[in-house]
Amino acid sequence: MSPLQHDPDWWRQAAVYQIYPRSFADSGGDGIGDLAGVTSRVPYLAALGVDAVWLSPFYPSALADGGYDVDDYRDVDPKLGTLADFDEMVAALHAAGIRVIVDIVPNHSSNRHVWFQEALKAPKGSPARDRYIFRDGRGADGSRPPTDWKSVFGGPAWQRVEDGQWYLHLFAPEQPDFNWKNREVRDDFLTTLRFWSDRGVDGYRVDVANGLAKDLPDPLPDDIADSADLMNGSSRLWDRDEVHEIYREWRKIFDEYDPPRTAVAEAWVSTAERRARYASPEGLGQAFNFDLLKANFDAAEFREIITANLAQAATAGTSSTWVFSNHDVVRHPSRYGLPRDTDENAWLLSGGTQPPLDRELGLRRARAATLLMLALPGSAYLYQGEELGLHEVADLPAEALQDPTFLRSEGEEKGRDGCRVPLPWTTGGPSYGFGAGSAHLPQPAWFAESSVEAEDRDPDSTLAFYREALRLRHSLRADEKLEWSDATDTVLHFVRPNGWHSVTNFGPDAIELPAGEVAVTSGPLDDGKLPANTTAWVVVR
Ligand code: GLC
Repeated sequence: MSPLQHDPDWWRQAAVYQIYPRSFADSGGDGIGDLAGVTSRVPYLAALGVDAVWLSPFYPSALADGGYDVDDYRDVDPKLGTLADFDEMVAALHAAGIRVIVDIVPNHSSNRHVWFQEALKAPKGSPARDRYIFRDGRGADGSRPPTDWKSVFGGPAWQRVEDGQWYLHLFAPEQPDFNWKNREVRDDFLTTLRFWSDRGVDGYRVDVANGLAKDLPDPLPDDIADSADLMNGSSRLWDRDEVHEIYREWRKIFDEYDPPRTAVAEAWVSTAERRARYASPEGLGQAFNFDLLKANFDAAEFREIITANLAQAATAGTSSTWVFSNHDVVRHPSRYGLPRDTDENAWLLSGGTQPPLDRELGLRRARAATLLMLALPGSAYLYQGEELGLHEVADLPAEALQDPTFLRSEGEEKGRDGCRVPLPWTTGGPSYGFGAGSAHLPQPAWFAESSVEAEDRDPDSTLAFYREALRLRHSLRADEKLEWSDATDTVLHFVRPNGWHSVTNFGPDAIELPAGEVAVTSGPLDDGKLPANTTAWVVVR
């Protein structure tokens, strides 16, 4: 374990491991993962070799959206622990040389937040209502919602309250949207950022960063016909230019600390250019790039995305980010094990049977993609369980599902629970070592062979592979340049300045590797050659 080094640029090429706390490790035995569980696994994270962890929300919450419905931004959910547990966790992670990023959810609070409760009790037009987005409905009696907008999780984006007014919720009704034109809302978030920064948090992941600024006159024009997915800066709801004023204020707070606190925006926007605005050094500093996550396993697609994003990041004065899996998407071994253009939702609704999943091919490709990603300049975001090669749990029964997407779409969207099933730590026992009790989402029998315990003793396991790749990434890390070498339609080969080559074979036939020392491969070589769906790192000195 190495203690934390003072380095204001630590984030630029960090490997960041996302922890979804309620599904990581349960120290209390109540079926829900907790902060003490994270602390107990610090040695595991240190051995894995990650530079930072990002924790999805652990704040008090009724879990209407897995914790992205926050009751109180400056406390820990009693189900997950206490502030003292948080401090202990941060101290243990820092002692192991691992930084801490927390999730901040500024677009909406939960409907149990004191401010929303106050707003419900306060009259129309009151300062308490002004912290949220309340409007009168349409029609003589105001019984039609102010607009016909749909929420991201399905169903209408407005909910009526007792006195007849409506409030906006771009997500679930339990997630009322804040009014970011309100100074009190802005100031309260500055207080929250100071609160966690003072407790030693190193950075923030900013949820729905493209949603805060909205242009919603009161009353709303009757014929308002904006589409919620118009994301080019002209929508009333998404990716508006004024949102960056908010982040300029945040940046001032971040820069009061040494090293400055970092932030990464979750902003699903239409172009790399729009994304770069969130990543500017005067703003949040970095933004998630979901392009590889959305791409097919295809050399040409990967190459185009990598080239465009590296150029864009350089222009914006930041480093790029890369990600294949997170708590909102189907795990990448499963995506890559399905035929191209599979409708993932239909596959999930079939319980993972239609079309059939090629588990082995998917995992082989996922490992190849991950090794390629870990060789790229920029930061790599990893999602808990991918180091075990976990597939999506696609056959969760309807009655077990928790994601509001499933209920709000009346079962048409299966939702995101399949990537949120509690991790398997041991080959047996209650909840495969997740905790002393059962797990809050049912775990499949195949978790036994993908558990940490099983993979620990197998030198060819995905876990062993991640550990080796992350260890080598530390020793090979070079400045943020990349040069393409011999890229073809089926092979991606690039070189970092220190002679570190990464070669990925997307094609069917085995290929020769450059002469040099083969440092690690994502799968076995075939007579010294690189087989299909495999990546190798070669060091040429
Ligand atoms: C983000 C989160 C997602 C959540 C949503 C609403 O997209 O990643 O999990 O449901 O925001 O907060």
